[in-house]
Amino acid sequence: MTVHSEEGEEKSPARRRSRRYIPNLAEFYFKPTYDWTIDDAKSLYRARDGVPQEIALNTVLYEDSIQGMRKLPESSIDLVIADPPFGIDFDGKSSVYNRDERLVVEDYEEVNGSYLEFTKRWINELPRVLKDAGSVYIFSGWTNLEPVLRRAREVGLTTLNHIVWHYPFGVFTKRRFVTSHYHVLLLVKDPKNYFFNKIEHYPEDVWPVKRTYRTGKVKNSTKLPLEVVGRCIDFSSKPGDLVLDPFMGNGTTAVAAKSSWRHFIGYEINERLKPVIDSETSSVELGECYTPYASRLPTLDELAEAYPNAYREFLRREKEEKR
Ligand SMILES: C[S@@+](CC[C@H](N)C(=O)[O-])C[C@H]1O[C@@H](n2cnc3c(N)ncnc32)[C@H](O)[C@@H]1O
Repeated sequence: MTVHSEEGEEKSPARRRSRRYIPNLAEFYFKPTYDWTIDDAKSLYRARDGVPQEIALNTVLYEDSIQGMRKLPESSIDLVIADPPFGIDFDGKSSVYNRDERLVVEDYEEVNGSYLEFTKRWINELPRVLKDAGSVYIFSGWTNLEPVLRRAREVGLTTLNHIVWHYPFGVFTKRRFVTSHYHVLLLVKDPKNYFFNKIEHYPEDVWPVKRTYRTGKVKNSTKLPLEVVGRCIDFSSKPGDLVLDPFMGNGTTAVAAKSSWRHFIGYEINERLKPVIDSETSSVELGECYTPYASRLPTLDELAEAYPNAYREFLRREKEEKR
């Protein structure tokens, strides 16, 4: 009996046996779905394709993002990264965070009134401004996750992933577990047509990333690690795309976008953060963190060391292909 592969090629029983499942072997053949050289990424950035002329690119506007997003043209945004205030009594200064309060910028804007109402209002704006193939990442603590999930569903966004960002530090507790994770929801406008660049062979939905501490630097009371925001950008946008952050804080999204050949636009209600955002954004060069995605994968030597059995099989199959 012969078996037809997807390509219609005939396989003999011996060859079928030789193609049995080998753990980790697929990783030796993995390639990112899309990839760009540095020159390609630079050209895409400069081309501004699909970016409406009326949008002032690579700017942070110091205003309420709900009002701000209403002024954006429809279908203009490729990716939204939103880390809204938590909706808890938080000013980021408490001594439990073990910080020098003098370095935390005043006027952290928490939500006054109903968190559900606030959540409804800002999430309402997303479907209109998003392109059809666009995606949204929303960061949320567990206490206010429920209204975020509900509102996202009500406005017609589909949850593709419920990522957990695990950070190895939490506020010490005596009578309950230490919270050391954040929820990161990946939502899309059209689950049949969205952009996703699988740049890793096995991208899991738990991201263990340390929090960044910037001892001695002036900062907003909360800051996401660049690595976490960078992952959202790498997996869900292309060079030259436009990334929107409605709650800029320290400007982490601006830094991640600028350093990977993406455009950004953002809002921040607290004008006192302008010097922090300006200094963060100018601390990186355009595209400085971008390297083609294939170059970030483990090398053949690293794979060989990690998975010796799969490597033997890889070499055997390579030889077989050459015959
Ligand atoms: C959790 S922080 C964002 C931190 C940011 N992701 C970072 O890595 O630095 C939320 C920010 O949203 C701002 N904010 C709150 N309400 C806002 C609104 N309606 N419009 C714009 N910014 C707002 C707060 O001042 C705060 O800086």
